[in-house]
Amino acid sequence: MKLNIAVLSGDGIGPEVTAQAIKTLNAVADVYNHTFTFKEALAGAIAIDKTGDPLPQETLDLCLEYDAVLFGAIGDPKYDNDPSAKVRPEQGLLKLRKSLGLFTNIRPIKAYPTLIDKSPLKRDRIEGTDLTIYRELTGGIYFGEKKLNEQGTIASDLCEYSEKEIERIAHLAFKAARNRKKKLTLVDKANVLETSRLWRKVVTNIGKSYEDVELDYLFVDNAAMQLILNPSQFDVILTENMFGDIISDEGSVIGGSIGLLASASVGDENAMFEPIHGSFPQAKGKNIANPVASILSAAMLLEHFGLNEEAQAINKAVDKSLEMKIVTTDLNPDSQYGTEQVGDFIADYIAHAEDSINYNQENINYGQSTII
Ligand code: IPM
Ligand code: MN
Repeated sequence: MKLNIAVLSGDGIGPEVTAQAIKTLNAVADVYNHTFTFKEALAGAIAIDKTGDPLPQETLDLCLEYDAVLFGAIGDPKYDNDPSAKVRPEQGLLKLRKSLGLFTNIRPIKAYPTLIDKSPLKRDRIEGTDLTIYRELTGGIYFGEKKLNEQGTIASDLCEYSEKEIERIAHLAFKAARNRKKKLTLVDKANVLETSRLWRKVVTNIGKSYEDVELDYLFVDNAAMQLILNPSQFDVILTENMFGDIISDEGSVIGGSIGLLASASVGDENAMFEPIHGSFPQAKGKNIANPVASILSAAMLLEHFGLNEEAQAINKAVDKSLEMKIVTTDLNPDSQYGTEQVGDFIADYIAHAEDSINYNQENINYGQSTII
């Protein structure tokens, strides 16, 4: 298959981790005879610095033209700490999501057996967790009208949803549940919010055409609690934009590191793949950032295009790296491996999986090929 992939590696650790995802995709292309073409474009703080715009038109045009977008991370403390900043890197990301019509954000969360003890949550709570969050991404409070009165003393953000916006993501979430454990939980705040009541009505209706999927409902405050008390009860969680933002960060502690969580953002015509972690500016250029979330996002990209075997090859290589403790220091403080080395191992494992029998810890040399 030929795929043109726009690469927006962005700020902070974005470029380092994205480089590992590209390395991994190149290994897949070699082994399975695909042609993946990558083209870099500016986004985020780096784009503001160079062009004054967090999402230059040229970048947007490339993303619209190409088959998929591989996204790194954006954000820079110089904007976070300045509430009066007129342009912010995040605006670029939000505009990109909206302009590409990426209305569904998919965030899988899994308790990896080899990492269970890394999570601050107790083993017996998180064991067996394998859930995925379907977060609405182009509506709700993020995109509603924003107001600030002249004195700068009263502000509001409008949260608005239409039936159509709810329907299109609900269908995707039901279909996903159908292929998984056949359970869908709608997370909302229907005891208070009108938008949530609309979500319940629409999702309940759609549920009638997915009779094999069990549908239940949870208020978001309760869901936040259930997610750490008993996360293995969930299969697919469907929710609106801001609730999804919050509970997916919360869910990340289950996996032991936010550095493991990948995501796909899809619409009718475009798709973008990105780690859920931020730009982690303190780690920039230090070769310590965990590239796994970015690499797993590349696996989601392959899956999106029906390349399931290839996606599985990446997932297996990641599992192997975790099993063999070829991980960054967020997962093992004594680790001698950095971003690059973890990427090398995963790419090499894909290229030479049949030789895996020869791997052992002593033979993996820092900064060198991991294949004996
Ligand atoms: C995310 C991020 C973004 C969001 C920010 C950077 C705008 O937190 O992708 O979860 O809130 O959607
Ligand atoms: Mn977030």
